[in-house]
Amino acid sequence: MTAHANSNRRTLSEALARVIPDARLDTVLLPDSRGLELHLLQEAYPQHLLDAEAVARIMDEPMYWAFCWAAGQSLACFLLENSQYLEGQRVLDFGAGSGVVAIAAALGGASAVVACDTDPLAREACLLNASHNGVGVEVIGELDELMGPVDLILAADVLYDRSNLDWLGRFLDRAPRVLLADSRIKDFDFEGYRLLETRRSHTLPDLDESQEFREVRVYLGQRPRRP
Ligand SMILES: C[S@@+](CC[C@H](N)C(=O)[O-])C[C@H]1O[C@@H](n2cnc3c(N)ncnc32)[C@H](O)[C@@H]1O
Repeated sequence: MTAHANSNRRTLSEALARVIPDARLDTVLLPDSRGLELHLLQEAYPQHLLDAEAVARIMDEPMYWAFCWAAGQSLACFLLENSQYLEGQRVLDFGAGSGVVAIAAALGGASAVVACDTDPLAREACLLNASHNGVGVEVIGELDELMGPVDLILAADVLYDRSNLDWLGRFLDRAPRVLLADSRIKDFDFEGYRLLETRRSHTLPDLDESQEFREVRVYLGQRPRRP
């Protein structure tokens, strides 16, 4: 591990321990993902130590980056099986968290990958995980910081808050194509987006979410053709 990756890992481990005492980062191999590994919260994390104060700290600082969400895992597998979406493309992963989707895009043949997340710790996690998997990603905090054109926007599990639905139109203003993975919105019906397939997956470590959140839909968004 490089000195920079070591320092990333230390920063993330310390942040984790501030929120969940005795929690640690493990390297986890993602199933069916060509050896993709991520630094995530350990599988048997000390839930029994989660008193009311710890729960309040988690609510304040959710640490999405310490999990690989079902939608992220599904979109990563989809990209590795469907590299035609990636070859020669500059892609942006919006709401990157651990960087799982950004890393799969880089492994799958994208020519350049940008991981975008408002959480500075998520950006550290993306850099650490990218370097661990031997790929390069650029990180930014906001979509508005993106310089230059982008061919494809990727987004997994970013619709947990319905107000984020506004992003779907903005993605198509910024890129001609979007691949979105989601298990939260049941009545999904947005102009320019169509369902490609449905996959079953779960969050790592497993949060024991209900069956409905284990069914992930992958959508393709394309700018409507002008008459
Ligand atoms: C549930 S996590 C999903 C992470 C990853 N895509 C996955 O599937 O494992 C959602 C992520 O979106 C990020 N996020 C939320 N709103 C955002 C915004 N407006 N711009 C960039 N990132 C955002 C959060 O910080 C969080 O890391």
